[in-house]
Amino acid sequence: MQDHQSGHQRLTLSDVQRPEYLANPYPLYHRLREHDPIYWDEEMHAWVLTRYTDVVAVLRDPRFSSAWGPVETAWMPEELRPQLEPALRAVSRQMLFLDPPDHSRLRGLVARAFTPRMVESLRPRVQRLVDELLDAVQDQGEMEFVADFAYPLPAIVIAEMLGVPPEDRSQFIVWTQDFGRLLDGGHLSFEELLTTLSGIADFLAYFRRQIAQRRTAPRDDLLQALILAEEQGDRLNEEELLGNCVLLLAAGHGTTTHLLGNGLYALLQHPEQLQLLRENPSLAPTAVMELLRYDSPVQLTSRRLTADVEWAGRRFKAGEEVLTVLGAANHDPEQFPDPDRLDLRRTDNRHVAFGHGPHFCLGAPLARLEAEVAFTTILRRLPQLCLATEQIERLPSLVFRGIKALPVTFASVLP
Ligand code: HEM
Repeated sequence: MQDHQSGHQRLTLSDVQRPEYLANPYPLYHRLREHDPIYWDEEMHAWVLTRYTDVVAVLRDPRFSSAWGPVETAWMPEELRPQLEPALRAVSRQMLFLDPPDHSRLRGLVARAFTPRMVESLRPRVQRLVDELLDAVQDQGEMEFVADFAYPLPAIVIAEMLGVPPEDRSQFIVWTQDFGRLLDGGHLSFEELLTTLSGIADFLAYFRRQIAQRRTAPRDDLLQALILAEEQGDRLNEEELLGNCVLLLAAGHGTTTHLLGNGLYALLQHPEQLQLLRENPSLAPTAVMELLRYDSPVQLTSRRLTADVEWAGRRFKAGEEVLTVLGAANHDPEQFPDPDRLDLRRTDNRHVAFGHGPHFCLGAPLARLEAEVAFTTILRRLPQLCLATEQIERLPSLVFRGIKALPVTFASVLP
């Protein structure tokens, strides 16, 4: 698009896909924010918001809806409809795609089974898993950090929480990939959408069997807690229960993988910060928050207007979509002094990497726990950790920011 005032080619959000901005989108976000922090993007067919204050205000304003609306099935091939329709219905009952009062009810029920105390009780188990993943590579002197560590860790944690037996784990990991694709916005081809939904249908069938087993023989896991979840006599129905199991996987796996990958990459590029954390492991909680802000796994989320709204001199119309660019808000100099600097001691770090308002990430304590244990253990046990490549490849997504592969070397693994 041509900018008539400056005569320059005007940048838009889609330019994130260009190699230089995929490597580092923050200069692009600065340009968008400085040029026009609230602009209508013809290509995305949505408003794009890059200022911290606008992003947090939209995310807590009920006029900006998360709801999907009625499930459309007309596009489904007739012969696949019996399989795909229940999958789409269950997905549409995920709390992420609902507004109050349905959202509040479902979130309240799932949150009861997912308390910070319950998450904290997982610390010893997460520590054991982290140590096992490092033990597995100790004789190699190298690993591909994403495949060998960042990918399996969150998958195993959530699989165990839900009570998936170890023998079903590899199938389960394939499903989480399917669900992650669904959250990546409108970037799926028709074929990919069919594959994704049929993966979800298989997952639903698997979990229906797991639920039936637990109804006769209760177990002590998150799935059992969800089955029992009850508030004011109001149970989760099975569709809601299944839809929100899918969500826990979809929302919790890729995002945490990206936090581990982006975080380790950022540390390796800032040796003095890495050394600071190595020498001060008690800094881990603050450090993880800064890594979340500095290179956020979820770069944007969206809302749809339920009413006409006047916003900072703009007229938003009912039905229009608004993209809140979390990655841009997290680098807004009005909110974060020297925003492009990684500062593991940063205080007053009210980043929006986990969103904001009623849909604030339910899994934030779990993601933070996994990252804190992972980074402190890696820095303690791998004293000579180095990047094995100059060039890393980023995932080509506007929504998620992650690294495809991160080869690293190390001289030894301490016990
Ligand atoms: C919601 C980010 C890990 C479960 C969200 C939202 C963001 C987010 C930005 C809000 C989306 C919106 O408002 O539209 C992240 C990041 C993670 C992470 C960056 C890792 C670093 C997890 C984990 C789980 C999880 C580990 C669970 C196992 C959820 C759920 C919601 C959510 C259930 C929906 C909450 C609601 O709609 O009320 N997450 N997440 N997330 N996240 Fe996470």
